[in-house]
Amino acid sequence: MPVLIAGATGLVGSDICRRLAGQGIPFRALVRASSDPSKVAALQALGAETVIGDVRDRASLDAACVGVESVISTLSAMPFAYEPGTNDIGPTDRDGTIALADAAKRAGARGFVYMSFSGNIEGDFPLRNTKRVVEAHVRESGLDYTVLRPSYFMEVWLTPAVGFDPASGSVTIFGSGEAPISWISIRDVAGFAVRSLDAPFARNATLELGGPAAVSPNDAVRIFERRTGRTLTVGHVPIAELATQQAAAANDMLRSFAGLQQCYAQGDAIDMTATLAEIPMPLVSVEDYAGEVAEGIGSGR
Ligand SMILES: NC(=O)c1ccc[n+]([C@@H]2O[C@H](COP(=O)([O-])OP(=O)(O)OC[C@H]3O[C@@H](n4cnc5c(N)ncnc54)[C@H](OP(=O)(O)O)[C@@H]3O)[C@@H](O)[C@H]2O)c1
Repeated sequence: MPVLIAGATGLVGSDICRRLAGQGIPFRALVRASSDPSKVAALQALGAETVIGDVRDRASLDAACVGVESVISTLSAMPFAYEPGTNDIGPTDRDGTIALADAAKRAGARGFVYMSFSGNIEGDFPLRNTKRVVEAHVRESGLDYTVLRPSYFMEVWLTPAVGFDPASGSVTIFGSGEAPISWISIRDVAGFAVRSLDAPFARNATLELGGPAAVSPNDAVRIFERRTGRTLTVGHVPIAELATQQAAAANDMLRSFAGLQQCYAQGDAIDMTATLAEIPMPLVSVEDYAGEVAEGIGSGR
């Protein structure tokens, strides 16, 4: 019986699909009518059965869940699919994921793996509130559940998308940059999601997920400087300014980004000892990732 992946065209979901294909595990990818055709074709080339649906359309979820063993949900409206008030955090991340878990239960699926985020990410903002509400629903669903709570992804939060741009020589940091964060690679998040399908440790469990070490943003800058051989100009956005941005934000995505940036400023250190003892996995470090970025911009050392 296949595993259904919701969010299969996304950063984590597509890596999960590659891993499932590599392990010969049958899987079905939930894609939208509007999903990028090249991403859908890439999933089909991996051997995925693709089904068209949308988590805001209950009938499409019932159809997608027929005969599945488990569901892995990494879907989110933010940032790439965000449509204010339409494909938004409330209707999609919250109500849509809850509807997906309910559809999985109705269809007789065994398990549900839900991609939340770190328990250290606290505060009153839409994405954080949604993650905790969906976590609670999944735990009460009657399905075997795994709630995955990864820290900040390296491939998002140490990139130009958030102003961290070693290639241009300048990086933006939220807050003082002193509080350590257990940056994690998308590849490792995907690896844990796949292992959650069969690891006894992950059954009916909430797993905080971080990289191999907690590294402060200021130390991350030093690592990138060493690996790229460049001196980086560092700009800090004060927490008070982020709070002002959150209060003035025009929509739930902007409110949530400002909330996430304030939580980043406060740090997110995660001890992986117990999880790695049960689910051993080599983890990508900031040092490894900075080396890859340096190679990419032609200054690797
Ligand atoms: N970024 C971080 O640092 C971080 C840290 C911890 C946890 N997380 C969580 O990790 C998860 C995966 O992140 P990611 O970077 O892989 O996300 P992503 O690349 O933005 O992918 C989002 C996926 O959701 C799908 N989607 C959006 N709206 C949908 C709808 N209405 N119905 C069905 N599918 C829909 C998208 O499909 P289309 O291609 O059709 O748009 C896409 O496949 C998210 O839940 C995120 O909150 C992220």
